[in-house]
Order: sequence, then structure tokens, then C-alpha cells
Amino acid sequence: GVLIVVPPVSNDTGIKMVPDNAHPFQAPGPNDQRGPCPGLNTLANHGYLPRNGIASFEQIITAVREGFNMEHDLAGALAGFAMLARGNAFLDLVSIGGVSPLIPVLPGAIDGPKPPGGIATHGRFEGDVSMTRQDAAIGDNVHFQDSLYDELLLYVGKFGDNSPVTGNSSIVTTKVMQEFKFARFVEDQIKNPVLQYHAGRNSLSYGEAAFVLNFFANGTDGTLSTPVMGSFFRNQTFPDDWYRRSSPGNITLIGQGVDEIRNAHPVPPGANAPNGTYVLDAPINSCSDVYFNLAVENLPASYSKATGVFKQNVDTLLAAVAKAFGCPVIFPTGPS
Ligand code: HEM
Ligand code: MG
Repeated sequence: GVLIVVPPVSNDTGIKMVPDNAHPFQAPGPNDQRGPCPGLNTLANHGYLPRNGIASFEQIITAVREGFNMEHDLAGALAGFAMLARGNAFLDLVSIGGVSPLIPVLPGAIDGPKPPGGIATHGRFEGDVSMTRQDAAIGDNVHFQDSLYDELLLYVGKFGDNSPVTGNSSIVTTKVMQEFKFARFVEDQIKNPVLQYHAGRNSLSYGEAAFVLNFFANGTDGTLSTPVMGSFFRNQTFPDDWYRRSSPGNITLIGQGVDEIRNAHPVPPGANAPNGTYVLDAPINSCSDVYFNLAVENLPASYSKATGVFKQNVDTLLAAVAKAFGCPVIFPTGPS
């Protein structure tokens, strides 16, 4: 095994141009893993993450700071959750795409006989009501979908701010996300008979919309233009003359974004019933329902069988997830 050590908090957290000369864009090769996260895909295409798309917990934390100025604890929670949900926490390796021959079955086949699926695997992390990927039950939940992105552009046209350069409505705003995210929910609620939008996925999905506004925007003025957004989503490359945000983006900032976007058209946690109605979940009433649903109900209880370095790593990663939410660690109780 490989012992996971949480990296120290870096003080390289100011505005700077990205990418630097050491990180040119290079299209992925046929065996390189890419998946449902435009942020991680972009980082791998520039070599901030290994270009093969197989990364360690530590590499992810460093890369999202370098490239996007994502704050240390938020990065640790996302990377830790990804590793526990869909990676190999014994070897400290997770695929940012699908199953990889470089990532074997967990020791003792603790999470079942199949190798960890990578973050593209549906469930636990990848979930429904994404912006530019379909629900797994409807279509392609991994790759960029032009039709969905065109819909997003329609909402920018209707609800965005006018660009001082073009005079057209092409600045992506909170209002755009408020309307687009609600439209995406309504579509999938009707089209996806097995829609799952429980507390964890619900907040992550709004959080990803807040990521777009807060991490893709140009750090110079904090605004997000349509071409810049397109560079990340469509081409998975940093745009020209782009600066990462000028202060670390942390979970408080993203939580405020989630509330702002969701409160315009509230959609509480729930799931579709067989008769097609959206049934709300009972409140969990824990330290954080999002934390509890994601990291306790959703991760396999079988992690309790880990020993040695594997166990140390599981404990380190569980602590990294709980820390960002300000919650005490509760051991997972979910199915394998
Ligand atoms: C989506 C993982 C960092 C932007 C996703 C998804 C996963 C993921 C699994 C798919 C969820 C779904 O929509 O079903 C991670 C991990 C990160 C990370 C483990 C480690 C820190 C980032 C960063 C950004 C970002 C730094 C932005 C700069 C997004 C966006 C989506 C997304 C915008 C939604 C895509 C869409 O709905 O079409 N991420 N991510 N992520 N991620 Fe990341
Ligand atoms: Mg999805």
C-alpha cells in the first residue's frame, strides 16, 4: 500500500495566470482516462494531474489549487470522497474517468470483486441532474453533451448579463444557473424514471453549478464569459489570458452559491417513485445531512474490514471529508 498523507496548506493562493509554461495543453491519448468532471479533465489535459487520468489524493489537492485556487479543505473533501467512493484507497489511486487496468480490486475484495470504477461510474459520486452530462438512465453520463450545453447557452442568452465587449447577453450569472438548474431538474424528473436526488447528490449538483461561476470565471474581474465557459466544458482546456480566482474558493463560498441557486426554485432532496412522482426524503437531522448522506449512507460499511495501511488511509480520507463539513467522523454504513 501507499500511505496517504494530507499535504500541508499551501500559501500559494493568490491570483496568477494559468496555465504556466510547464503545463501546455495536450489532447488525451486513447488510453488516458477522462470523465464527468470538466475541472479535473482540464487539469489532466494540461499535466497538472497525470495525463493518464490516474491520480492520488495528494495530486488532486495540489492540482485544483494550482489550476483553480480551490481551497485546501474543500479539495480534500472532494478528493477524499472520490477516493473512497470510486478509487483504490490502499494504493492511493483514483481514475478521473472509468475503470482502469492500473487500478486493481481492493484488498480482500472489500468493495466487491470488481475493480474500482473511477469517478465516471454512476452512483455514490456521479449522479443525476448534471449540467452537460445526461442522467445514466437516460444517456451518456460521462462525456460532454452538445445538446445540453446548447440548452445552457440558451439560458445565458435569456438570463445572462450583457458583455461590455460584444454587447450581447453572454455573461454567465447566478440568475442563469438558477433558471438552468431548475429546467434540468424538471426535464430529468419527467424523463428519468429512476431519478435520484438525495441530500448528497442534490447539494453536489447545485455545488457544481456554483463551481462554474466561482472557479471558471476569470480571476481578473470575477466574470465568466461564454467563450471562457466553452473552453472548459467543450475543449477541456484553459482559455487564453485566463487567471485563476484571486482567493481560495472554500466550502462556505460554494455553500452560499448552492443556497442562492437552489432557493430561486427550491428542489428539496428526494427521488422518483415508480409512478413517476418526485417523493421528498425525510430530513436526516444530522450534523450535516449532505455529509451524512454522502459519506455515511453512501460509502460501503465494508471499509471496516480494512487493516494496516489500508485502514490508516480510510481513516485519513474519512476525516478529510468530515472536516470540510465541520462534522465528527461517522463510519460508513452503506452497501458495497
Ligand atoms: C462534476 C469530481 C474538482 C467542476 C464532477 C463529477 C465528479 C467530480 C465525480 C460528476 C458529478 C455529476 O455531475 O454527476 C471532482 C473531484 C474534484 C473536483 C473529485 C476534486 C477536487 C472540480 C473543480 C472544478 C469542478 C476544481 C472546477 C474548476 C465540476 C463541474 C461539474 C463537475 C462544473 C459538473 C459538470 C456537469 O454537470 O456537466 N466533478 N471534481 N470540479 N465538476 Fe468536479
Ligand atoms: Mg452526472
